[in-house]
Amino acid sequence: MSILWREDTRELHIRNDFFSYIIVLLPNGEPSLAYFGPALAAEESYSRLARFEDRALSTHTPDLPTEFCLDWARREYPVYGRGDFRFPALEVQDQRGLPLLLDLRYQGHLIRPGKPPIEGLPSTYTERPQEAETVTVFLRDETWGVEVELHYTVYADYPILARHATVRNSGSSPLRLNRALSAVIDLDDDSWDLVQFSGAWARERHLVRRPLVQGSQSISSNRGVSSAQQNPAVLLARRDTTEQFGEVYGLALVYSGNFSIEAEVGSHGDTRLGAGINPFGFSWVLEGGGVFETPEVIVGYTDRGLTALSQSFHRLFGERLARGVWRDRARPILLNNWEATYFDFTEEKLLRIASDAKDLGVELFVLDDGWFGERNDDTSSLGDWEANLKKLPHGVEGLARKVEALGLKFGLWIEPEMVSPRSQLYQVHPDWAVGSIADRRTLGRNQLVLDLSRPEVVDYLAAAIGKLLRSAPISYIKWDMNRQLTEPLSLGLPLDRQGEFFHRYVLGLYELYRRLTEEFSGVLFESCSAGGNRFDPGILAYAPQGWVSDDTDAVERLRIQWGTSFFYPPSSMGAHVSAVPNHQVGRRTPIGTRSAVAFFGAFGYELDPGALSDSERDEIREQIRFYKEWREVFQFGTLYRLRGPYDGDGNEVWWMSVSKDKRRAVVQRTQILARPNPPFGRLTLRGLDGAFRYRVSVRPSSPVKNEASIRWNAGSRRGDELMRAGLLLGGDGWNGVNRGDFASWIFTLEAE
Ligand code: DGJ
Repeated sequence: MSILWREDTRELHIRNDFFSYIIVLLPNGEPSLAYFGPALAAEESYSRLARFEDRALSTHTPDLPTEFCLDWARREYPVYGRGDFRFPALEVQDQRGLPLLLDLRYQGHLIRPGKPPIEGLPSTYTERPQEAETVTVFLRDETWGVEVELHYTVYADYPILARHATVRNSGSSPLRLNRALSAVIDLDDDSWDLVQFSGAWARERHLVRRPLVQGSQSISSNRGVSSAQQNPAVLLARRDTTEQFGEVYGLALVYSGNFSIEAEVGSHGDTRLGAGINPFGFSWVLEGGGVFETPEVIVGYTDRGLTALSQSFHRLFGERLARGVWRDRARPILLNNWEATYFDFTEEKLLRIASDAKDLGVELFVLDDGWFGERNDDTSSLGDWEANLKKLPHGVEGLARKVEALGLKFGLWIEPEMVSPRSQLYQVHPDWAVGSIADRRTLGRNQLVLDLSRPEVVDYLAAAIGKLLRSAPISYIKWDMNRQLTEPLSLGLPLDRQGEFFHRYVLGLYELYRRLTEEFSGVLFESCSAGGNRFDPGILAYAPQGWVSDDTDAVERLRIQWGTSFFYPPSSMGAHVSAVPNHQVGRRTPIGTRSAVAFFGAFGYELDPGALSDSERDEIREQIRFYKEWREVFQFGTLYRLRGPYDGDGNEVWWMSVSKDKRRAVVQRTQILARPNPPFGRLTLRGLDGAFRYRVSVRPSSPVKNEASIRWNAGSRRGDELMRAGLLLGGDGWNGVNRGDFASWIFTLEAE
């Protein structure tokens, strides 16, 4: 890893073993991306890669060569005007509302070991300065005193570049930012597919892949949260890039609020990719001397396919974005009472469920919504974080101690950002709800959002939740958030600053998370937002795992977890086995298949064990025994996507996880619909050590008896055979013995 400055050609070469990112200065004095791809030799100059040509309809400034046109220049932090018609990174107005035609010129740069934090925002970090190097490039507009710092961090061990920008008003009069993106990357051509992860409640992060075309294509959120509709992360993949082969860039924004990621193909096939806070609804008053920090953007590059790119993000996010004692610790197997009881429970009922859970091998019992105030449905009590003594006569503490006495850890659900109009908190502080004109407020799930842009609200919540956490032995918190933000108005902000609301809300949220996770550093925080409505890199910096989706159906989860796995490590994905018929889609899948899919994450249950048959309970006991034996591989192994819901007819999904030392691996295959007389086939495994001999076992799973899978595949096999010849497919089910939809297989591999 190195960041080199060549004074003779005035170019900056940011480099590690995986890629080079080369910045040169354009004739107008602004930085330009000359190259971003596989690592190039450090000693060469690459300034020739910034190409210039005079073309019809081009414009140029009188003092510069006619062949220098900004409309197709590759600009590191573009502004509108002077002939660049693509979207800009920065838009600034003066006090009168006049849009400033900025001219941001290079002033110098600073190269430092390590990676400084970003004030008020989550970001990736180093544990030792030698892990990474950071360069800050200083730009300045002389006329208006607008200064921009572009920060680039390169890690030694990850094919990842971390970027963000700082904007400073070095003058004395206030300015207004209407747009301040985190980063723009101008690429030379447009033969890319844009891959996005889109959806809705209960079907989050479905993969959508489309070719770039001339013009603008973008994803965004204006919902106050990163959203279930679009995840703040995209890929640009070559048209022929597959899981195993080909070039791909990945871009993920470390942010949990309104965002925009845009790809614009210009008139000459150039592609501008930009990401940051959504300019829609955003405006920020920057006082004289004021500084605005943009969120971090993580950019990955590989020429070895999609799986390799995902593995880089998994490592970075798991090792240098998530933090705290739980980052590297095995996550407990939990049982959550939500789908078992919803709001209808008593202490006695909960203790019966907890005791059954303990008997099955569960490690943590989580009490979900409905334990506080007068909350018997979703119409009241958010904000009143005191136990409902009708349900819990001994309070949270009494219940928690009894759960601990059973030999389980105790976890609790909260939704701190919300207030019910029917609550004591709302009676006292109606002005704390977002949206200052009360009769124009919108309810979502019967609730309002507390105005976290106000420091006094954050202080109040830190104290209230802190008191709750100190009141009982609580080892785990599920932090939920069940609506999106509307009416972005705050009584805490002056009229001319209402455009700051959305971003200030996110800053308040991060501050609240920071205080609580720092004070209660032993508590495992799991984020949730009606499932995956705020499952993003920003939240991951505070909560090392998140509830992937409210949809617990095994078939639906194949797509959801497949999409989620593009950026987020298995340890971050809360995945549970629930009862059938499934509460979201009504489907009945075998319990073995529900577990096979949920194993590849932070595993747990979402059901009442007392409602199951003896044989189902035996099966769960066996699942838990098995998961404990393989937990390290499931949660922290290297994940390979082998065949997905978007391959072929999508009927089969395969993925596998390999331990860091490659001595153990576990493979899952789920077949959605049964096929009579199935075709023969092979599936090659990945990531093994070719020279190891592995003992391949097939774990029994219903409804398939696995006879052929065992006969053909079990036994001692060399790693290279498994990766080249693969497993043999097509036997199970041909003779009618193994009929049944939603079958799954789990293969385990252990080096001999
Ligand atoms: C939405 C969550 O995603 C569920 O798991 C559950 O906690 C409910 N909220 C409770 O209201």
